[in-house]
Order: sequence, then structure tokens, then C-alpha cells
Amino acid sequence: MKIAIVGASGAVGQEFLKILEERPLPIDRLVLFGSERSAGRTYKFRGQELTVKLLQHNDDFEDIDFALVSAGAGTSREFAETITRHGTVMIDNSSAFRMDADVPLVVPEVNPDDARQAPRRIIANPNCTTIQMVVALQAIERLSHIRRVRVASYQSASGAGAAAMAELEKQHAQLCAGEEPTVEKFTFQLAYNVIPHIDVFTDNDYTKEEMKMFNETRKIMHSDVEVSATCVRVPVMRAHSESIWVETERPLSVEEARAAFAAAPGVVLMDDPANKKYPMPLFVAGHDPVYVGRIRKDLACDNGLTFWCVSDQIRKGAALNAVQILETLMK
Ligand SMILES: NC(=O)c1ccc[n+]([C@@H]2O[C@H](COP(=O)([O-])OP(=O)(O)OC[C@H]3O[C@@H](n4cnc5c(N)ncnc54)[C@H](OP(=O)(O)O)[C@@H]3O)[C@@H](O)[C@H]2O)c1
Repeated sequence: MKIAIVGASGAVGQEFLKILEERPLPIDRLVLFGSERSAGRTYKFRGQELTVKLLQHNDDFEDIDFALVSAGAGTSREFAETITRHGTVMIDNSSAFRMDADVPLVVPEVNPDDARQAPRRIIANPNCTTIQMVVALQAIERLSHIRRVRVASYQSASGAGAAAMAELEKQHAQLCAGEEPTVEKFTFQLAYNVIPHIDVFTDNDYTKEEMKMFNETRKIMHSDVEVSATCVRVPVMRAHSESIWVETERPLSVEEARAAFAAAPGVVLMDDPANKKYPMPLFVAGHDPVYVGRIRKDLACDNGLTFWCVSDQIRKGAALNAVQILETLMK
């Protein structure tokens, strides 16, 4: 099997290298691509030095079976035809094609079969905040149809890429040294702050990130569920957290929900408040599962439950989910 990583130098690209190294995939050749900024740089993979090639409109993808693409929506749009025209299947981490009717949007724990219907040879990886939420929601949906979801996210700096992580580190160092913090990647200073604004605002005053949670959840779950989200950037380096309220068709008990989460693929139940056991991003970073805890009845809704959900968004929210799609196709 021949695989390409497009955007190898980025936060997601680097995680692809780690995950492909960890998992026993039969890879005969791995080719790395980037822009002029990283072309020529080398990365180690399975004991070999691989050099990043410049992504260009040529025939470099001729013998590539799968391209794992994470280089932003503009690059995906510009290069989709170049990448797929010889038969390569493009698994795309950007938002470029997610809502296109002829592009499946796949989370293997929820809708693996959708991956098999990809007439354009493009499969989209959902937004990171949506991926972890639907993995958890699917456990509840199996018990009773979810009518409404209200969610507040606490999204880490790394969700905005490698340069954003560096900016948060730099801001802390600058503030400690009594200097003015550099603000380039985020709208405001993120260190010692939270920013209720991720991606651009849309006509209804929700942000694009918040509308992705509405639209993508419905597409992945094949559901009429309504999702109202507030997405917030927090000064955490890695792993997104979400406070989620669900309203189901029939009332569910906390015990039923706990059992469903405990049995759900990709979910780890961490819910023992008496012993201070609940998931936190600091300890979830670097791990694969979606962690769920703090499960309670919603005091404001008879058919409601509320819970806390944390996952490493560079892994399950991006690189791992894409590799799991590839594994689904191989099966
Ligand atoms: N970070 C996350 O948690 C996360 C989660 C889900 C989805 N995503 C999506 O994944 C994509 C990458 O995100 P990231 O966080 O990894 O960003 P990043 O750290 O900023 O990395 C961006 C990558 O894209 C490459 N790139 C940019 N323009 C290119 C071009 N014209 N040709 C080839 N390569 C190009 C860069 O290569 P050079 O260094 O050579 O420029 C770099 O490797 C984005 O679409 C993002 O929305 C990210």
C-alpha cells in the first residue's frame, strides 16, 4: 500500500506520522508533501528518513493508493483533482468538501458504511469538535433518538495548528518576562483568557465552527437532531473538552447512559465524582479514546441528560479518525 501525507509538517501531519508508525498497516511506501516552507525537510518513519516533496500540479500521485490530506481547505480545493485523478482516494481533514452531497463525512464508530460511497474518491474527515461529540452521542442514540443537543466547547490552542501552539507558549513566556504578548494566530491574547469566537461569524451570529457542529452532526448521524453550540478557545495546549446536554425522545436514567457509554466503541467512561474521577484535557492529550464523565440528569429538562466529554482533537479529532477511515476501507 502506498500512502501520501499532504501537510506533513503541520500539527495533524506530524500526528499522522506517529499513528502510522504505531499501527500495523502494510505500508510499502510513504510520501510526504508540503509547501515551499517545508519542502526538503526530513522526517523519520519506520527507521527511514523521508524528505518532504513540494506539492505541485503534476503526476506525483500516480501510484499512491491513499492520500491523507491536512493542509487547509484552500489547498484541498486546489489539489483535489491532481490528487484523485489517477485513482488515489483522498481522505481530507479540511472543511472543503464536508457538506458536499457526493462526499461522505465519516466517523468509523458511527457511519463506517458511508465511506464505501465516494464517487469523487474524496472522503471527508469531520470537524474535530464534532467527531468527539458524535462518538459519544451515538451511545445515547442507540437507547433513544436524540432530538436536541446543547453544547459548549472548551477548545485547545492546537486546534488552530502548530503555529497557534507556539503562540500560546510564547505568550506565557512573554507575560512572565513582563513583555507585551504577541497576538497573531488568535483574535486576542489567549494566555490567561478564553475567547468565545472560533472561525468566522455567519449571518445568524453563530460562528462557522458552531454551524459545523449543527450541520455535520446531522450528516454523520443521518439524523434530524438540532445542535446549538457555543465554541470557545481556552488556553489549553491540546485536547478539546465539551459540556453536552442531550434531549432524547424518552427519558433516560443515568445508569442506562453510563452502561451505554461503557459499551460504546471508542468511548472510555470515567465517571466517579466521589473519587474525583472525570476526564481532563491535560491527562487525555496523546490518547486515542473519547472520554466521558460527569453524567447527570438535566435539571431543566425531563428528557434531558448532561455529561462532560474530552478527547485529543489532533488524534481522534483529526489524524486518528482519518487513519481509521483508511482501515475501514481496507477491511
Ligand atoms: N489541528 C487540529 O486539531 C485539526 C483538527 C481537525 C482538522 N484540522 C484541519 O487539518 C488541516 C491542517 O491543520 P493543522 O492544525 O495541522 O495546521 P498547521 O499545523 O498549520 O499545518 C498546516 C500544514 O499544511 C501545509 N500546507 C499549507 N499550505 C500548503 C500548500 N499550498 N501545499 C502543501 N502543503 C501546504 C503546511 O505545510 P508547510 O509547512 O510546508 O507550509 C503544514 O504542513 C486544516 O485543514 C485544519 O482545519 C486540524
